[in-house]
Amino acid sequence: MTWLITGGAGYIGGHVARQLVDAGERIVVLDDLSTGDPARLPAEVALVKGSTLDRAAVSAVIREHGVTGILHFAAKKQVGESVEHPFLYYRENMIGLQTVLEAAAEEGVRRFLFSSSAAVYGMPDVDLVTETTPCAPMNPYGETKLAGEWLVAAAGRAHGISTISLRYFNVAGASTPELADPGVFNLVPMVFERITTGRAPLVFGDDYPTPDGTCVRDYIHVSDVASAHVAAARRLTEDRPGETALVLNIGCGEGLSVREMLALIGEVTGLDTTPEITSRRPGDPARVVASAELIRRELGWRARYDVAEMVASAWEAWCHHHPEARRAAQA
Ligand code: WQD
Repeated sequence: MTWLITGGAGYIGGHVARQLVDAGERIVVLDDLSTGDPARLPAEVALVKGSTLDRAAVSAVIREHGVTGILHFAAKKQVGESVEHPFLYYRENMIGLQTVLEAAAEEGVRRFLFSSSAAVYGMPDVDLVTETTPCAPMNPYGETKLAGEWLVAAAGRAHGISTISLRYFNVAGASTPELADPGVFNLVPMVFERITTGRAPLVFGDDYPTPDGTCVRDYIHVSDVASAHVAAARRLTEDRPGETALVLNIGCGEGLSVREMLALIGEVTGLDTTPEITSRRPGDPARVVASAELIRRELGWRARYDVAEMVASAWEAWCHHHPEARRAAQA
């Protein structure tokens, strides 16, 4: 197999590229480098700079590298930004996806893996979210991921392409500091950012209907997310083209509240994570925790890292990219 990874110079794409290379797969990456970093990629990976909106470029990469399968990560992924810039999100995430799918169908690529998100569920009112939990995305980012799944499935049926869409829950950590996500848009890096700049971490609301009043999420190490993609790629390789059409959650199946995460971050890093409680963030569901049963059944995969390892790797990566952080934290 030769896999095309769109967005492969990104945070999750970079982790998947490395694990697929380690598994002996041939990889080519297409990335517009708007947020991706070529330094994330192993030397043996061919990197083509380009946009998934450029149909000719995508078709050329598929033909010139003999691509037989595609993992599609290229997308915008910030919830708040998607609310302010829906045109950007629908263009990049939907038209970009369609362009890649059209090129795949035309060039005879018969295996396609799509990077989706737990954002498709919106505010699920269940203890554990299964793949049949009703989807009601609450922002353009989540909408583009749900509609993206529909398009992937429809293209698979119409053109005999085997497809798997993977819904990520709350991803954090890094297998090596170089592969870390530089963005400060999620809880763990936001806590590091606040504390190492002399401020208390913020808790967005402590009056939710949860045991300690703070929101509960399913936090998963990015290395586990990457290994789930390797397992999915293996399944697509083993099945006959067009035979597979799956949508799978990637989570640990256990929830931690914001307060529990702050306590864990303090325990793992030695940071003082005493928080400042502020008002709720609009659109935050009280609890979003995955059932990881279907991916275990379909791919034989389960998460192997615990949340403490995830936090430790995130802190190591943060200190690598912010050398002053450790000193500031001990001040
Ligand atoms: C987690 C919890 C916050 C920061 C988002 C996307 C989702 C997926 C994962 C891409 C929430 C609380 C946060 C802070 C806080 N991304 N919080 N103080 O919102 O669960 O999911 O990232 O696929 O699509 O929606 O993640 O890390 O932003 O927040 O109290 O400084 O931590 O309110 O309850 P979220 P998050």
